[in-house]
Amino acid sequence: MSLEKKKNAQLNEEFVQEVEVIEINGVLMIKTISDNWDPIWNFQAKPNDLLIASYVKAGTTWMQEIVDMIQNDGDEKKCQRASTYDKHPFIEWKPDLPLLPGLDLAMKMPSPRTLKTHLPVQLLPPSFWKQNTKIIYVARNAKDSVVSYYHFSRMLRIYPRPGTLEDFIKKFMNGRVLWGSWYDHVKGWWDKKDKHPILYLFYEDMKENPKREIQKILKFLEKDLSEEILNKIIYHTSFDIMKENPKVNYTTIPRAVMDHSISPFMRKGMTGDWKNHFTVAQNEKFDEDYKKKMIGTSLIFRTEI
Ligand code: A3P
Repeated sequence: MSLEKKKNAQLNEEFVQEVEVIEINGVLMIKTISDNWDPIWNFQAKPNDLLIASYVKAGTTWMQEIVDMIQNDGDEKKCQRASTYDKHPFIEWKPDLPLLPGLDLAMKMPSPRTLKTHLPVQLLPPSFWKQNTKIIYVARNAKDSVVSYYHFSRMLRIYPRPGTLEDFIKKFMNGRVLWGSWYDHVKGWWDKKDKHPILYLFYEDMKENPKREIQKILKFLEKDLSEEILNKIIYHTSFDIMKENPKVNYTTIPRAVMDHSISPFMRKGMTGDWKNHFTVAQNEKFDEDYKKKMIGTSLIFRTEI
């Protein structure tokens, strides 16, 4: 057996067992996160931190790379200094898995820090509100989110098995997936955005016009970059370039944990892929349920552009 295969087999035995899932205030989480909830909840944010928040599969990695390019004035070499998960610690990530550092790295990282979270607004450590930390929230329409999440759950072997797409859509609609209900997540953060420095952006808008959206980020971060640098950022954070960039495409994670041969992390990177997955019946049911769950909110998503 080759060393690589041996390493993968070992990881398989160690980590790819039945994933234990536990609720925190009604939100499903991996057990190792709930076991470590006290230090996560007590995480000390700082006023000069920047937090990138999103529901799972909203385009977080994309936003992280855009922000990193902005912070480094478009110097793509500097952005190659480390992998996404080392540059921007995932604050609630505290599993036994030594691979992806999260909370521990966040705590020892010198300022200014850029951090990542998928926590719903009600579970965000209170220090972020107290410190008035700037937050960029990325939202993506429910149909593309569920399809992306389904494929991600197939390839990320430390997440609960998704079952069929039909099974997974049902779980998603009922909020019985890790990090909880998409509906509550996007609405919760939307409601918070007028009371806190939160820049609420949409994946679909970024696809449609990255320049316009990056300009919003620049304004929010009080940065001014030349047209030339702006174009460079757009190029280096395009899907085709990021897909081939090992620092951002998660291909450096062992196959026993993320199996890109099942579905690559950088999968399609488009809006409207749900049309290739949903049956007519699934779509009707989803729409009917969506209307009920999103009633009364001013938040509007586009499922095609
Ligand atoms: P798909 O599975 O639909 O392709 P996250 O980073 O929050 O986990 O989100 C991952 C999703 O964002 C995946 O969606 C991935 O392909 C997409 N994505 C990543 N980088 C992107 C980019 N530069 N442009 C467009 N989509 C991107």
